[in-house]
Amino acid sequence: MAVRPVLTIQDERLYQVSEPVKKFDKGLRDLVRDMFESMAEEGGVGLAAVQIGVLKRVLVIDLVEKGFIKGAFINPHLIEASDEMQEGEEGCLSVPGLSAELKRPRWVKIGYQDLSGNHKIVEGEMLLARAFLHEMDHLDGKVFVDQLEPSIHKLLAGDIDRIKHGLPVEHAVEPRYRNKKKTA
Ligand code: NI
Repeated sequence: MAVRPVLTIQDERLYQVSEPVKKFDKGLRDLVRDMFESMAEEGGVGLAAVQIGVLKRVLVIDLVEKGFIKGAFINPHLIEASDEMQEGEEGCLSVPGLSAELKRPRWVKIGYQDLSGNHKIVEGEMLLARAFLHEMDHLDGKVFVDQLEPSIHKLLAGDIDRIKHGLPVEHAVEPRYRNKKKTA
């Protein structure tokens, strides 16, 4: 059992594409366990393996407290997303101190494999849909702060740059963009 440090966006690995999982073995189960522990330690609700430095297509989500699900999702891929979008604020354990509005589809259908390699499908809406999309972006080397609308990104650019250089945010931005929730 081990809590592993969560990388921040100053680490280049967060911009790399993760590799598919091929072995559904003890190593994978150990990784998932460490991911759940590391996520809980940081108070997050979702985590991608790359965030603890493992470039494998694995994500964990724990949204039980919000009325959704807890689980590990291996090799996840988007099957379908609603045209209808949701507004909402998003945060990330790899971007400490910041949160910002980001539009996402309201509903998604995801294909994935479980810890034994069985192929499964899960659907999610609202916060769960947002978490799946956020975490799957991590697996493709994408971080939410790089997907913000230009006007919002401009407002946060100074702080994003500080985090990329390992410095704390200055909170020079409006309170609404400060870290109120940690998505993942
Ligand atoms: Ni994240």
